Amino acid sequence: MSWFYRTFTRPILFSQDSEAIHNRTLRLLGWAGKQPLACELLSALYQAPTLPIELFGLKFPNPVGLAAGMDKHAAAMPVWPRIGFGFSELGGVTAQPQPGNPAPRMFRAVADEALINRMGFNNPGADAMAVRLKTWRDSGRWPSHPVGINLGKSKVTPLSEAAQDYATSFRLLFPYADFFVVNVSSPNTPNLRQLQDKAALDEILAQLQATNRQQSESCSLPARPILVKVAPDLSFEALDEILTLVVSRQIAGIVATNTTISRPETTRADLARVYSETGGLSGKPLRARSTEVIRHIARQTHSKLPIVGVGGIFTVEDAWEKITAGASLLQVYTGLVYEGPAVASTIVKGLRAKLRALGLSHLHEAVGTSLVT
Ligand SMILES: Cc1cc2nc3c(=O)[nH]c(=O)nc-3n(C[C@H](O)[C@H](O)[C@H](O)COP(=O)(O)O)c2cc1C
Repeated sequence: MSWFYRTFTRPILFSQDSEAIHNRTLRLLGWAGKQPLACELLSALYQAPTLPIELFGLKFPNPVGLAAGMDKHAAAMPVWPRIGFGFSELGGVTAQPQPGNPAPRMFRAVADEALINRMGFNNPGADAMAVRLKTWRDSGRWPSHPVGINLGKSKVTPLSEAAQDYATSFRLLFPYADFFVVNVSSPNTPNLRQLQDKAALDEILAQLQATNRQQSESCSLPARPILVKVAPDLSFEALDEILTLVVSRQIAGIVATNTTISRPETTRADLARVYSETGGLSGKPLRARSTEVIRHIARQTHSKLPIVGVGGIFTVEDAWEKITAGASLLQVYTGLVYEGPAVASTIVKGLRAKLRALGLSHLHEAVGTSLVT
């Protein structure tokens, strides 16, 4: 199926502007999500077998999730489990609605199977997102897998008021997500990544956990797991600083990693042109660095802290590399663009085969097995 996508579908999609075709595809998937027959067809073609894993109190039917940024507006939420994903992370959402950066702001580096984006959190704002999510819930089409929401900071909000900004979105969206991810690592909002500094992050997490307790009481719902998404460009020392907050601020896990501001070496003029664009790089060139970050976090936390591995996962080998480096869950964005809708189910099937071949009965048994201590 992936062969069919790469040979026939992808060239047609890639002949169009990347953001335009992204939006068209999301609209189509949003329509499909409302048609029972279309949903059944997608399930028949792409649904993954189960490979269950339980983390931070949530049951995941399989470990391969949809990464943040693909479905920023919850346009197609019922479709993601149908095409094999074991969870989805919606957003990034900010407290204020915002248009994002001027277009063009998404570019393909096809020869390297990479993307560069400087979207800048284009999103309808937390209020509108809550309305959209309520509509999905009331329609009875809520996805059958855990749903997370990626929280960003509104561009107009100064860094000094970031904690309040994150907490506003969190409060509005609290009833609609199983877990939240604090995104302090996008390169596309000016100075956002400074919020990865220990003191700033501590303040954000303190405020979020206070809101977590209040909302949990007032909505009679369990407190939500809060994860932190980190940049691949952080030094190991800076990562270690973040890890000192895990216990005091009850961080449920780390999502590693966001896109990178670094660029691979190239002698090709077409790639050099794309790489000269400002923004975050994702896809194959990010794979190795993201795995290094995962491995470092797993070592530092003695594999006790759940890690969501993301960055350059296209194949089961890429997925296995991240699991054995210490990731318990995975996410895919660019791999979906380049490999097509069978990517999640292909990876899950491959992981099941690997576990079987090694005589392992549960995915947990493979997590971190390549770590040399
Ligand atoms: C167009 C685009 C938009 C993205 N938007 C977000 C976002 O809003 N929040 C976030 O945390 N990550 C965002 N990401 C980063 C992805 O979630 C992921 O961390 C990164 O792309 C690496 O994974 P990949 O190599 O599988 O794409 C975005 C990525 C792309 C390509």
